[in-house]
Amino acid sequence: MRVALVLIVELKKRPITRGRTTTSTRTIFEGVIIMAPSSLQAKILQTAEALTERMKGEKPSLFSKSRWLRLILDLAMEDHEFKVDMFHFVDALPMLTTNEQVSQHVRDYRLHEKRALPLWASAVFKMASNPLTAAPAVATIRTIVTEIAKTFIVGRDTAEALATLRRLHEEGFAFTTDLLGESTVSAAEARQYQARYLDLIRCLAQEVPRWQADAVIDNNHLGPIPRANISLKLSALEAHLDSVDTEGSVARLKERVLPIFLLAQQNNVFVNLDVETWELHGITYDLFEEIVTHPDLRSYPHVGIVVQAYLKTAHEDMQRLLDLVRKRGTPITVRLVKGAYWDYEVVHARQHGYPCPVFTRKADTDANYERLTVMLLQHFEELSPAFASHNLRSLVHALVQAEERNVPPLAYEVQMLYGMAEPERKAVRSMGRRVRVYAPIGELLLGMAYLVRRLLENTANTSFLRSRYHEGTDIASLMATPQSSISFNG
Ligand code: FAD
Ligand code: 2OP
Repeated sequence: MRVALVLIVELKKRPITRGRTTTSTRTIFEGVIIMAPSSLQAKILQTAEALTERMKGEKPSLFSKSRWLRLILDLAMEDHEFKVDMFHFVDALPMLTTNEQVSQHVRDYRLHEKRALPLWASAVFKMASNPLTAAPAVATIRTIVTEIAKTFIVGRDTAEALATLRRLHEEGFAFTTDLLGESTVSAAEARQYQARYLDLIRCLAQEVPRWQADAVIDNNHLGPIPRANISLKLSALEAHLDSVDTEGSVARLKERVLPIFLLAQQNNVFVNLDVETWELHGITYDLFEEIVTHPDLRSYPHVGIVVQAYLKTAHEDMQRLLDLVRKRGTPITVRLVKGAYWDYEVVHARQHGYPCPVFTRKADTDANYERLTVMLLQHFEELSPAFASHNLRSLVHALVQAEERNVPPLAYEVQMLYGMAEPERKAVRSMGRRVRVYAPIGELLLGMAYLVRRLLENTANTSFLRSRYHEGTDIASLMATPQSSISFNG
């Protein structure tokens, strides 16, 4: 596995945008008159307050479970230089097989010289930086990073994960599970990953029918939906993906991905294609289109893909999926996210001198998310909406817009990542909405890129969870309408 090194050095601090709402104008979206902003905003605030009330001051695991994680997050939020060096170090750690290598990296990133660290942490890094005293300190560092990773991972293997998935189901939460792994470097590794997914499908198909029925998470507005649900990352299934050779990449991927979809269909398992970096975007959409229009899969509705609202092409992506469903004649699910690779996309575009594919103002991403929320709700019978976010404003906006449009509550779902926002997910579930938890399975080595993305997004000064739980921003401010400078007319 190649661990994706995300460069965050150049990111600037930017205050969170606070919005104002106008009082009298009505908004026209794609020809449909929707609520006046003032009454929409009032309803959003009212719903957010009701949900907050149900959260009873609880904090998510992210900010409460592991004291090591709390410490790393606190330090990273206070000291940008520490954040850059520490996250590079964490990213590299699983690849470092000897104490010497770890010791060298501690010295390279000068972690033993950081002044802001608590005394004990400083002592551990000082010991680790010296080859003569490195062994116990390196063992301590590995234990701490493993404990941190556990906050976001449901199990090291399927057997361990099943117990957590079952517990989640008993608590009223659906799941989608992902085998950690990405950016594969060999065909053998890709084949192994495919075999693990095929095993996972068989295993889930045996396990989930034994679970107690739950009307909210086992059904949509039309009837039963699969209890077993998996998410796939294409970069783990083929070593030679190249956006210059989209056709060749799709053909190679199809050999590995089609058997997964066919087996899933035989076993009544839902399959979602995660969307990764911009380089793989075209390949992922082309492959999805080929797979779901395959004669044997054309009428299978339990498939889905992701739309990333931070992409400047997101509206076109959604339109493309709508056209696809009309051509196919069977609905699909769309998981609407903001996008997990923001730091990477910004730096990568700058380094390679191509136009940045993502918005660079957080409010533009948030506003685009809301615009796409409305689009999904308008077409919910063709594109089943899955609103994936931990941002209470984005989620409440979706809930209120759904209610305004009389979209049945079980016609859409809310999705959250394991470990990230338990109070929010419990509160949304308590309102009778289906909530699905994204539950990664795997070893630390395979999960490091995933862990670094979670650390990056939660320490960004634009992060909703940081703002709510670390800075204690009040709900009224957090519910402000995102003020975007982009005109969304096309
Ligand atoms: P918020 O704090 O509201 O938003 C943070 C997000 O805003 C960042 O992640 C980034 O996208 C965006 N952002 C931050 N700063 C800026 C800026 N300066 N300018 C513009 N935009 C900015 N992501 C994927 O890419 N692919 C997936 O397949 C995927 N699957 C997911 C599945 C689930 C169930 C969930 C909950 C998330 C998934 N994500 C995926 C991650 C998601 O894209 C976000 O990274 C994460 O949810 C944080 O967004 P938020 O709305 O929760 O929080
Ligand atoms: C990621 O892997 C959740 O797909 C998202 O970061």
